[in-house]
Amino acid sequence: MKVKGLFLVSLLVIVQIAWSGFRAESELSKLMRTMANDMKRVRVKVQNGDKIPAFYKKYNRIHTAKPSVESKKGEHYTEYANVFLAQVDRFSIAEVSNQKLEYNNLVKTCIRCHETYCPGPISMLKKLQLP
Ligand code: HEC
Repeated sequence: MKVKGLFLVSLLVIVQIAWSGFRAESELSKLMRTMANDMKRVRVKVQNGDKIPAFYKKYNRIHTAKPSVESKKGEHYTEYANVFLAQVDRFSIAEVSNQKLEYNNLVKTCIRCHETYCPGPISMLKKLQLP
C-alpha cells in the first residue's frame, strides 16, 4: 500500500515536470508575441491616421533572445533582424501621410524573416497588412 502511494506521487511529479517543460516558451517566442500584439494595436492607429506611440527599443532583443530551437536562428537571421529594426525606426519617425506605407513595409520585414525561419505565423502576419 505504501509503495503504491509512493509510486503514484512520483508519477505525478514526473508528469508535472514534463508538462512544464512542454509549456515553457522561449524568450524569442515571448518577444514575438509582444511584437504581434503591439502590431495589432498600432495597425488600428495607422488605419485611423492617429499618431503612433514611440516604439520600441525592446525589439533590439531580437538579436539576443533565445529561440526554442537553435536552428531557428540560422545564418541570415542577423541580416533579417537588422533590416527589421531599421524599418522599425523608419516607421516610428514617419509622417502621418507615409505611415501606412511604412507600416506595410514593416510587416513585410516580419514576413521575410518568417519565410526562412518560422513559416507558421505567416498567414497571421499577412492579415496585419493594411489594404
Ligand atoms: C529576424 C527574424 C524575424 C523577424 C524580423 C520576425 N520574426 Fe517572428 N519569429 C522568428 C522566429 C525565429 C520565431 C520562432 C521563435 C521560437 O521558436 O523560439 C518567430 C516566432 C513568431 C511568432 C510565434 C510566437 C509563438 O511561439 O507563439 C509570432 C506571432 C511572430 N514571430 C510574429 C512576428 C511579428 C509580428 C514580426 C514583425 C513585427 C516578426 N515576428 C518578425 C523570427 C522573426
